[in-house]
Amino acid sequence: MIKYLGSKRTLVPLLTQLAVSSGAKTALDLFTGTTRVARGFKENGLYVTAVDTASYSQVFAKTWIELDKSKCDQRELVDALAFLSAVKPQAGYFTKAFCEDARYFQPKNGERVDAMRDAIEQNYRSTWLFEPLLASLILAADRVDSTTGIQMAYLKQWASRANNPLELQDPGLIDGAGRAILGDALEVVKQLDSVDLAYLDPPYNQHRYFANYHIWETLVRWDAPQSYGIANKREDVRTDVNRSPFNSKPNMAPALGQLINDVRAETIVLSYNNESWLDREQLIEMCRSKGEVRVIDVSFRRYIGGQIGVFNRQGVRVGQPGAKRNTEHVVIAGPKAIVQRMHEAAQSA
Ligand SMILES: C[S@@+](CC[C@H](N)C(=O)[O-])C[C@H]1O[C@@H](n2cnc3c(N)ncnc32)[C@H](O)[C@@H]1O
Repeated sequence: MIKYLGSKRTLVPLLTQLAVSSGAKTALDLFTGTTRVARGFKENGLYVTAVDTASYSQVFAKTWIELDKSKCDQRELVDALAFLSAVKPQAGYFTKAFCEDARYFQPKNGERVDAMRDAIEQNYRSTWLFEPLLASLILAADRVDSTTGIQMAYLKQWASRANNPLELQDPGLIDGAGRAILGDALEVVKQLDSVDLAYLDPPYNQHRYFANYHIWETLVRWDAPQSYGIANKREDVRTDVNRSPFNSKPNMAPALGQLINDVRAETIVLSYNNESWLDREQLIEMCRSKGEVRVIDVSFRRYIGGQIGVFNRQGVRVGQPGAKRNTEHVVIAGPKAIVQRMHEAAQSA
């Protein structure tokens, strides 16, 4: 399970139950991130289209949503993982940038990442194995990183897991068809056919995923970018290229309103955090155009950084810890009979 800010890991059972009780056969996950929610839908027999702007998310969506396990030769995957696990460690860009100039990983693991990533490029680029192998490498690197789960900084002292050897594991493909789209949700929805259910989980604040997970972007793109600052972020993190209106306070509400308006879905499910820019009433108002609206409030464990407080570069606490939990508003909107059924199913669970 990759560490990912805003991941809906604990909401997956509820969201899956909502999708199943709606009777949906097709679904759209417009901000798919780790693809956890999309996977939950797919495992319950829905045809899912997963969308995100992040390159690593596209790798996850190709692996778990687009690939149909029943049509893949598992032996090829197992053999490729064994081949990569045996490649000779070799320091390259990754080791220099993320183990020496910055200390996100131990060099012994960085050298393995470099060698494995080069081998994936050379041997598997235009095969079906490319994405599952990359997904496996990202997950393996995540298990031995030295961060709190975002890549804006690394820990002052090595996390104990960073000492473990990096190990590739089978990413575990899922039976069934699906679709992965790399793109801006606002643009993509205009091109897509109507679906039964759309799930919307936009970013909640000004912190961009492109900056928070710049190492995964670089590992996927493998473009050896110029970097800057102590966190050694990609040079293009400071440009406007990858900015999302969902990370801007003035642009967020119009963008979400536009998306709700444009998405062709019978029912929508929107999750949004109570510490963010839009409150419960505003969310309800925004969704009214879809029909009946119900809200389920779920208590949620906050991101660890928010719990321990804010520290400066010398490791001195400069901000107070916040609450340990916050509330996730899960807003359901659509035809009255369907929304009522979904709401009742959630209440009786
Ligand atoms: C709150 S996270 C989603 C988490 C996801 N539901 C999960 O459980 O892993 C928001 C996601 O939106 C993506 N994103 C930001 N702006 C976007 C846009 N304009 N279109 C599509 N995806 C976007 C980010 O890359 C990030 O993965």
